[in-house]
Amino acid sequence: MDIIIRDNYAEMSRYAAGIIAGYVKNKPNCVLGLATGSTPIGTYKELIRMHKEGLDFSRVVTFNLDEYLGLGIDLDKPYDLDQSYARFMYEELFSHINIKKENIHVPDGRTKDPEKYCQWYEEEIKKAGGIDLQLLGIGGDGHWAFNEPGSSLASRTRIQALTKQTLDDNYESFYKKAGVDRDKMPHFAITMGVGTILEARNIIMIANGVKKADVVAKSIEGPVTSQITASAIQLHGGGITVVLDKDAASKLKNLDHYVHIERLKCQYGLS
Ligand code: PGA
Repeated sequence: MDIIIRDNYAEMSRYAAGIIAGYVKNKPNCVLGLATGSTPIGTYKELIRMHKEGLDFSRVVTFNLDEYLGLGIDLDKPYDLDQSYARFMYEELFSHINIKKENIHVPDGRTKDPEKYCQWYEEEIKKAGGIDLQLLGIGGDGHWAFNEPGSSLASRTRIQALTKQTLDDNYESFYKKAGVDRDKMPHFAITMGVGTILEARNIIMIANGVKKADVVAKSIEGPVTSQITASAIQLHGGGITVVLDKDAASKLKNLDHYVHIERLKCQYGLS
């Protein structure tokens, strides 16, 4: 696991976007797993900037991690404004780059048959050849996507009930700003499972701010536990990069070691 610590959010975002852009350049038809939330917004802004300078997304395929149950938009009718993650992705990334609509997958929370839909989503990922690089944030309760504490580390795409902490966090970050009543927040979501996420060939996890310091330390250095589903990162056998700002890294016990390793790798041209 590579642990990269940067001074601030902007540098964390630039580094993360650089990794994603590297994949897109090396494999123009790569399959990216994408995340929502406040953390990846800077990474997406940076990808948009790179696109303006020529980064081509025309053959890239994407799969998003999750969506609130009941919400969704058609990407050709983005004026259907709601608090869906599909709309978030449209506004923060998709409408600014040359990705093809048919290559975008965001779970559709409006499905009438969630169980069947979740199986279909899993099959679509397989049909696309699996996810090459999965971008992840980490929730205040340690979740990956909407895999709340207690989710099996082998779980697949399914419906999850959201914890009070997730509802509080997302209310503060999004619903309150949009002037939407807390009562109107969906309490369930469709989410890729931890097992689904672990099948991605490579993972990049990003986190910033002191609020995340505790769960970041627990996920990287604590025991692997379904109580902090992001701790499953320790089970992944492929390329893993964790990109943190200084505040999010502040509770890591082995912080000096990670900084030392990064310096060594730079020195020997290994990164
Ligand atoms: P945040 O959410 O980026 O808004 O902090 C992260 C997550 O829930 O994965």
